[in-house]
Amino acid sequence: MFWAALLLFSGNAVAERHDSDLMSFVTLPEVRALKWEVEHYDRERLAPGYWFVAPYGKISPDQPTLKYQQYQVGPYIYDDNGVLIWAGAPLYDNHNVFDFKPVYNIDNDPYLSFIVGWEYDDSKKGHGAIVNSHYEVEKEVQALSDVHDFNMHEFNIMDGGKTALACTYRSQPINLADFGRPTEESWVTVGGFVEVDVESSEVLVQWDSLENIALHESNMFHASDAPAGSPGWDYVHINAVDKNGAGDYLISMRFTNTIYLISGRDGNIAWRLGGTESDFEQDFVFSKQHDVKFVSSNGTHHVISFLNNASDERGNDEKISSVLFVELDTGVVPMTAKVIKRINRPDSGLTRLRGSAQALPNGNVFIGWSERGYSSEHASNGELLMTAQFSSDRYSTYRSYKGEFTGRPTAPPDLVASVYGTRDEDMTTIIHVSWNGATDVVQWKFYAKAYDHGDSVLIGTIKKTDFETMFIADGFMDFVSAEAIDAEGNVMHTSEIMRTGTPPDWKAAGWAGSGSGPSPDDPSIIVAANDNADSTSSADSTNGEAAEVINDSSSTGSGNRSGAQYADAKEVAKAVYKAYDVIRGVSALLIFIILTGTLGGAGFALWRYLHARRISRYQHVPSEDRLPVEEIRLASNQRP
Ligand SMILES: *[C@@H]1O[C@H](CO)[C@@H](O)[C@H](O)[C@H]1NC(C)=O
Ligand SMILES: *[C@@H]1O[C@H](CO)[C@@H](O)[C@H](O)[C@H]1NC(C)=O
Ligand SMILES: *[C@@H]1O[C@H](CO)[C@@H](O)[C@H](O)[C@H]1NC(C)=O
Ligand SMILES: *[C@@H]1O[C@H](CO)[C@@H](O)[C@H](O)[C@H]1NC(C)=O
Repeated sequence: MFWAALLLFSGNAVAERHDSDLMSFVTLPEVRALKWEVEHYDRERLAPGYWFVAPYGKISPDQPTLKYQQYQVGPYIYDDNGVLIWAGAPLYDNHNVFDFKPVYNIDNDPYLSFIVGWEYDDSKKGHGAIVNSHYEVEKEVQALSDVHDFNMHEFNIMDGGKTALACTYRSQPINLADFGRPTEESWVTVGGFVEVDVESSEVLVQWDSLENIALHESNMFHASDAPAGSPGWDYVHINAVDKNGAGDYLISMRFTNTIYLISGRDGNIAWRLGGTESDFEQDFVFSKQHDVKFVSSNGTHHVISFLNNASDERGNDEKISSVLFVELDTGVVPMTAKVIKRINRPDSGLTRLRGSAQALPNGNVFIGWSERGYSSEHASNGELLMTAQFSSDRYSTYRSYKGEFTGRPTAPPDLVASVYGTRDEDMTTIIHVSWNGATDVVQWKFYAKAYDHGDSVLIGTIKKTDFETMFIADGFMDFVSAEAIDAEGNVMHTSEIMRTGTPPDWKAAGWAGSGSGPSPDDPSIIVAANDNADSTSSADSTNGEAAEVINDSSSTGSGNRSGAQYADAKEVAKAVYKAYDVIRGVSALLIFIILTGTLGGAGFALWRYLHARRISRYQHVPSEDRLPVEEIRLASNQRP
């Protein structure tokens, strides 16, 4: 509405600003996570777990001058309803990340892994990252010295977490004898893979296409093409690598339409599936495949899964992209390949931008069709259970994964409180709380104190239903905090105690009560007054969709109160607060006298104190809840 008005006003052909497809939060104003459009077809049969996606707008990184924006791209976790669980963009400062997924084969705990993209000026090549369930970076695997970047396609951690597989792209000149032009040379981009030591980034195994895959296998370049300078013909385009128990590597080359098994013993190609030189008797075709993985492998029989996108920037080979599960029997002559499962893209479309296929532990299949985050979950028989896509068409995710994960951030929950009202008797405090990355929070308990050394009083308990939870408390609640509560009723973590935001000038903001503005209430008196009133009042109707009151007797609301009793309570509270103010003034003076007598260390202590309390101001972006626009103070040291 505001932008529409601005357009009219300026008469300018400024493009309409779309951001209603992004989430916004009072507690994390810098995070604008993507919203989802979700369709459930059979919710009961969904596998347990969360979605792991890494939205990006464009692959190449922005220059710093263009870069500042609220956090949108990067690693994100959502639940089955598209509710945000973790906004990971701040961890790597809005960098593009790829192949973000949960990892279960390191030890008994789940981890997260992803590839952080290269720096815009090539000053950093990017790296693979492993993050623990506290969202702390445990390991960073660096790119090879002689490649441009840590290639964005694959970061595949092997059992035990000691090694990882990654794709490599390297430019070098090659003789064109294979194209019948032995006197000519062209630059080519050689595709390969490495297995690296996760601890040291040391390369343990290195393989590439130069000696192994001839130019003529490529469907991208032909014998008559003019030679190219660096970086040269991207003639194979590796986009996936996996390894089986026997130590052999399965790789996918998109520009030869071929899946290769590379012997772990000698680096030779054990077999080719697909392309112009397939070693298999097969009754199906595929092309432009992605995310080729072993599902099982025992020496002679392999089941592999991959996304057959059947199309790319140069053309379409089939009408619909699909995920294929293929069984290979390499113990017979000729070797055979059979499709044992085919799942077509639910909207009958073609996946033109990358993608992924994941067999889940319960037999379901989770598929990332990539563009616009389009994802689907299917039962083991292929039946469609769910589809989801970003509300925004400006973002894609290279792959999408699903899996169970327990997140326990080390940072405390974020809380913001503000007070509204024009008279002493109609004050309302609005509290927002969130805990970025925490899974399994079931309730929030809210507390307030009459003054900074007062007792914390429980003012409400609310069921958590969304990333951010709002609670509306009667009265002017100050020194507010919240506890995250798990299903067993245990306290998981507690927010810092936050002062409640007030208008800079109460009178100017419309204050019509006594004095120059209200002072905080004693929460124990308000809660007691409400408890009495609650026996006659109905349930709170102003808490809104996010706030389901769990225990009426311990929560406050904006219901009717017995007026006289309440007014008395307010008077008492105010008297207590003012008396405390006087006491505090006296003790502050004493402290000042003591401090000025103790130089040196005292100055340092004061500096430390001020430093720790450094405050940054954010201009609150009006959310869909139509909250009043106001400046919200947040302690900057709360941010991860
Ligand atoms: C591999 O699996 C296939 C099919 O499950 C089975 O017939 C075969 O005996 C297995 N081979 C070995 C070496 O375990
Ligand atoms: C397959 O994926 C590639 C990108 O990796 C894309 O260029 C191509 O258009 C896709 N084809 C189809 C049919 O989706
Ligand atoms: C509500 O809270 C009160 C006081 O904390 C407690 O005694 C009561 O059992 C709770 N009721 C429910 C339904 O949880
Ligand atoms: C609140 O309660 C008082 C008396 O208890 C009643 O007169 C008044 O109408 C009520 N107000 C509302 C909004 O229900």
